[in-house]
Amino acid sequence: MSSFNRLHPDLDAYTFRFQDDLLNEIRGSYLQKLAPILENPQNQYLFEGGRSHRATLCASAPYFALSFESYPLLWISNNNQEIYQIFRRFFEASGLAEHARRLVDYRESIVMYCGFLVVGNRAPAAHWHCDYAPGANAFTLITPLFELEPEHGHLLYKLGSQTERYEYTLGEAIFFGDRTAHCTEPYLPSDSKRVLVSMTFGTDKLEYWPLLKETLESQARYFMLPCGHIFGRCDCLRPSVLERLGRRLYQRLVPTSVITS
Ligand SMILES: [Fe+2]
Ligand SMILES: [Zn+2]
Repeated sequence: MSSFNRLHPDLDAYTFRFQDDLLNEIRGSYLQKLAPILENPQNQYLFEGGRSHRATLCASAPYFALSFESYPLLWISNNNQEIYQIFRRFFEASGLAEHARRLVDYRESIVMYCGFLVVGNRAPAAHWHCDYAPGANAFTLITPLFELEPEHGHLLYKLGSQTERYEYTLGEAIFFGDRTAHCTEPYLPSDSKRVLVSMTFGTDKLEYWPLLKETLESQARYFMLPCGHIFGRCDCLRPSVLERLGRRLYQRLVPTSVITS
């Protein structure tokens, strides 16, 4: 069984080791569906930064690529049920949910919201942030899909006013919640891509949706809600339902615009 290690008592950040071959299915999908697009010389503009990108990838759009503002890093999310399930199988096999039950306020189960491949070849400046609003009861996992090249940046995180460095290793994942400020370690443009696997997971209580939505809605088009339904395909987020759950923070959902390529 994998072992979990808290990075520091003041942080909601943990690492754990797992059998490397649990990632083989994700590797296969990456190599078959994404690598041909991402390594195509004509598409290298996607990694240069300076503008934000939103694009479905491949003809049947199994993946959706997004970059935030001008920062050169693609967050490529599962965009249908088949790809979601590939990430979900890793999540189940890793034993992560079992551990998360001790960290999250939940009702019946821990939900994996969305799976990502995080692909880039440079990081111009430290872009410090936390992934969630305080109290969201959710975590982000990151682990390398392939060994990093020596020139690639790893992960920086804050411990008080100090900056610490976490080195990505094959067969080890890090995950953190709303209190761990972090960023990609800056690195110069490289000839090879840095490919990380990421997934978001956490509470099944819809009461936390007003806190979670900031993160989940901005990252992907296809993801699972705390209620266990796919975003946009259930009535659970109706104001009346959320009000019944004791929430007044609900805001009308704004559909995301999409550029298809
Ligand atoms: Fe982050
Ligand atoms: Zn629902």
